[in-house]
Parts: sequence; structure tokens; C-alpha cells
Amino acid sequence: MSPLTTSPPTIASVDLSALTANLRQARQLLSPGCDILAVVKADAYGHGAVAITKALAQQGVTRFAVATIQEGAQLRDAGIQAQILVMGALPPAQFADLLGYDLTPVIYESNIAAELAARLGARSIPYPVHLKVDTGMGRLGLLPEQVLPLLQAPAFQRPLRLAGLMTHLADADNADPAYAKIQIERFQTVLAGLREAGLSVPLIHAANSAAILGHPAAHFNLVRPGIMLYGYSTVPSGQAATLKPVLSLRSQVAQVRRLKQGDSVSYNRAFVAARPSKIAVLPIGYADGYSRALSNRGYVLVQGRRCSVVGRVCMDMTLIDVTDLPDIHSGDEAVLIGRQGADAILATDLAAWSGTIPYEVLCGIGPRVPRVYS
Ligand SMILES: Cc1ncc(COP(=O)(O)O)c(C=O)c1O
Repeated sequence: MSPLTTSPPTIASVDLSALTANLRQARQLLSPGCDILAVVKADAYGHGAVAITKALAQQGVTRFAVATIQEGAQLRDAGIQAQILVMGALPPAQFADLLGYDLTPVIYESNIAAELAARLGARSIPYPVHLKVDTGMGRLGLLPEQVLPLLQAPAFQRPLRLAGLMTHLADADNADPAYAKIQIERFQTVLAGLREAGLSVPLIHAANSAAILGHPAAHFNLVRPGIMLYGYSTVPSGQAATLKPVLSLRSQVAQVRRLKQGDSVSYNRAFVAARPSKIAVLPIGYADGYSRALSNRGYVLVQGRRCSVVGRVCMDMTLIDVTDLPDIHSGDEAVLIGRQGADAILATDLAAWSGTIPYEVLCGIGPRVPRVYS
């Protein structure tokens, strides 16, 4: 069998120059000595973790964060030698892979530190780990008062070495900074306690994109941008005006159909034509990440015009109303995310229409959609 020689009509184009521009924006917000830990989990928010990590590494980024050991292993298998931090759950059953792939864990519980130390045994070179403090996110993490006792426990005399201390902010994108400030203060108190006990913490990090933009006090000496690298921000408008969306999602009209008034389309007849209509069928559906919540709610650009999604989005197909486009044919480009002519549809628009956040829109773009890099 010969390999595929053609691309499908639905593709995600990833603009690496936009990624680089966003990285530059992030760096400009940091004080000298503050470094970037690029968040490339969830396949780099749907952009393709290997290609994104390689592109960022070429721009001098030396640290990357993923959520799972498999995600870290995927980067290593692709030849990435940079530091890789695993920020999610650490099942002891996966410790062999964690160590085998030279991944840096974020420890969030003393049992995990003890089990990892036991597995490492009498290693002569201590293994670097980060610790996570829960200062108010209420997710993974040690309570502030658990940090010092853990660092004074035998596991940290050897074989573990504290390479970093982190926390995560629950509300950094709120226009009201109060809760983020409380969390930053709790984190600072933990750090002061460690300093008083004579412990040094090489890397200190708390800031996601929203805190990079809005909370300089959370920068410490390392920041963890995710969504801003991909061109989006969740902070109040204005603060992130120069970010460039990196991904666009494009398809092509598969068929143009004519409806009489009263004809219906797609499952459950959720759209009935109120006038004689022209409908274009697009070969993209919820299996590709185009949410079913966009049924009768979304818009798609064709010939620079916004066409409404009509009827239920199906697993592999979506229908749009192109009645007002006099000269439309199969093969015409349809832009689901991105710019066409003078108009653009952003992941934030899809998020608003479907009741979610741009993160979920981007992460949801399925593996069936090829990522094409330029
Ligand atoms: C622990 C942690 N740090 C940083 C980030 C990056 O956040 P953002 O994409 O908002 O910059 C995430 C993403 O969810 C995260 O879970």
C-alpha cells in the first residue's frame, strides 16, 4: 500500500511566527532573570506538542511543562532534551517511566515523595523534583504547613533534590485581584519559612498567562505561560491586545444543497428553512472538535461572509446557510477559526457561542485534523 499523498479538506494551520511573536510578548513582561516554563500539555493546547516544543526550543526556551508522564515521554521520543516538568497526577505505577524518561515530577503529597525516594534508592546524584503548594486552588498540592516538614524529611536529604517550588492561582484572570493577592502572600510566607530554615529554592513559579499579564508579584524567577503563547488571553480586554492567535481551522465545502421553504436538515430536524435556502455541507463535525453545542449557534466564514451553522452539528459534518452567497461551489474555503477577508472568527467566539472557554475549543480539536505548520 502506498502512503497517503493528499491532505484532507479540514486542516488546522499553525502559524509558528505568531507563536514566536507571543513568546516575545511574554518575555517583554518579565524582569531580567525571570525565565519561561512553556506549558505544552494537552498536545500544546491542540497545536501539536512536538512541533510547538521544538519551535519554542529554537527560540531559547529550555523548560517545558506537561500534565502526564505519557505527554513527557512523547516529547522525549521526539528527541527533545530540554527539562520537562510533569504537573499532573503521579501514579506510583508509572514511576519507572517517569525516571526512565528523565522527567521532573511535581510532588504534591509526602507519600509520593517517600515512594519515589524508595524507588530511587541510594542514587549518588540526587533526582530533581518540584513541590506544589496549594495556596487556594484546592486542587493538587501540599498545604503550606506541610512543605517545610517534607523538605526536612529523609527523602530530601537524598535521593530527592528540591529544584523548584510552585503554586497555582485560581483567579488570576479576575478583574478583582483580591484572591490572587491572598494566594501570592500565602506562597511568599511559605518561601520565607524555607529561607529562615536555611533551605534554598532554585526555581519559584506561580504565574499562568493571566498572572504574567496582571500580577507581576507572582512572577518570581519562572513563569508558566500556556494560553498566551497560543495567542489568547482571559484577562480583561486591553491587557493582551498584541497577542496573535496561532491556530486556524479551515475546511472546504463538500456539497451545496438547495432547500425549499419548510425543508429540514440534519438530526432531529432542528433547522427548518424559513425561506428557499442554500446549505453548504462542511466535512467537519464534533469528532473533529467542532462542538455539537454550536448547532444552530455558530458561524463560519465563507467568501469573507459570516454564515450561520444550521441544524445539529454531526460527528463528521456541519451544515451552514449560504443562501446569501450567489456564487458558492464545492471546494470553496470555509474558515471555522481564523481570518478570511476582512473578518475573523476566534476561538473565543466559538467558546462564547458554545458556552465554554477558548482553552477547551483549542484542546478539543481532534487527532483526525492534521496540523499544518508554517
Ligand atoms: C499548573 C498550571 N500552570 C500553568 C498553566 C497555564 O495556564 P494558562 O494557559 O492560563 O497560561 C496551567 C494550565 O492550565 C496549569 O495547570
